[in-house]
Amino acid sequence: MPSIIHITHYTHTHTHTHPPYIKTQIHRKRERVLLLKKEMMMSSERQLHSFSSSTLTVLISVFLVLFIISQPPHHHHHHASAARIMETDNHDPFSDISNRVNLSVYYESLCPYCANFIVNHLVNIFQTDLINIVNLRLIPWGNTQIQPNDTWICQHGIDECKLDVTEACAINEWPQVETHFRFIYCVERLHLMNKHTQWQSCFASNGFDPKPLDNCYNNGLGYQLEKTYADETANLNPRHKFVPWVLVNNFPLQQDYQNFVGYICKAYRGGYKKPNACKSSTISTSLTINSSEAAPISTPQVTNP
Ligand SMILES: *[C@@H]1O[C@H](CO)[C@@H](O)[C@H](O)[C@H]1NC(C)=O
Ligand SMILES: *[C@@H]1O[C@H](CO)[C@@H](O)[C@H](O)[C@H]1NC(C)=O
Ligand SMILES: *[C@@H]1O[C@H](CO)[C@@H](O)[C@H](O)[C@H]1NC(C)=O
Repeated sequence: MPSIIHITHYTHTHTHTHPPYIKTQIHRKRERVLLLKKEMMMSSERQLHSFSSSTLTVLISVFLVLFIISQPPHHHHHHASAARIMETDNHDPFSDISNRVNLSVYYESLCPYCANFIVNHLVNIFQTDLINIVNLRLIPWGNTQIQPNDTWICQHGIDECKLDVTEACAINEWPQVETHFRFIYCVERLHLMNKHTQWQSCFASNGFDPKPLDNCYNNGLGYQLEKTYADETANLNPRHKFVPWVLVNNFPLQQDYQNFVGYICKAYRGGYKKPNACKSSTISTSLTINSSEAAPISTPQVTNP
């Protein structure tokens, strides 16, 4: 049964194991002074660094000029082409991020299929070199609905609403995909073990500071982020039919979502080199996933707007 949440009840109720965040003014002041000192030290370090590096640059330039002058012309030419080849070899084939494939995952935090997808499948892009060619976006909203009276209905209850907001906060606070994915992966993994209520252990186990997320959750930012995700999800064309709903360059994979690696590799147009994860053996295994695994997901909550 869906739980119903009213916005006025939308407060932070995860009580256990929270360190005391509220510091005294004195503490804050001391912290600021310390920060200031640290900044000053860092800036003088930078000056020192830039001074010594510019000295070094001058010295190197002088040596280079002397060296080039002392070389016979044909030798010089030979050197230059060798250097060019070296440069091509060392060039990162995936450095052109404009060629990246957009992978968007619309999901909700406590749907078992979503958790399974994130923990057992999506994680592959970080365990291979695929992440070099992929722009991964996670959109934690899914089938949640906002009623006319501003009540949220989350398919898997109030905990799902809270964890969706928390994960939206993680994405916002740690914009690097490797970082927020680590947190979300941890929460979803706990959910697969029926332990989602222990989600706060994901801070310590990943060395994350809980404070930014706690602030985002409590100051309304998380709620705003979710409203944006709600709009984005509602405006999907075609509309999502279930979750997880996976798009590769805006193409909805529908029931074939577990084969996302194959779609990514096919969509990738960049560079002269395919990622290793796209080499035939890897793709063929991921493309022969038993189709009965990707069975349609029952979504009693999806209704027309
Ligand atoms: C909001 O509307 C839903 C039905 O759409 C109803 O179940 C719920 O009680 C309402 N909540 C409030 C606080 O009015
Ligand atoms: C990927 O998304 C970005 C915006 O986030 C967009 O500018 C780009 O054109 C998209 N790429 C493809 C191939 O759809
Ligand atoms: C696919 O899954 C079904 C049910 O889980 C099983 O009976 C069948 O043998 C599987 N097929 C393959 C090719 O693994």
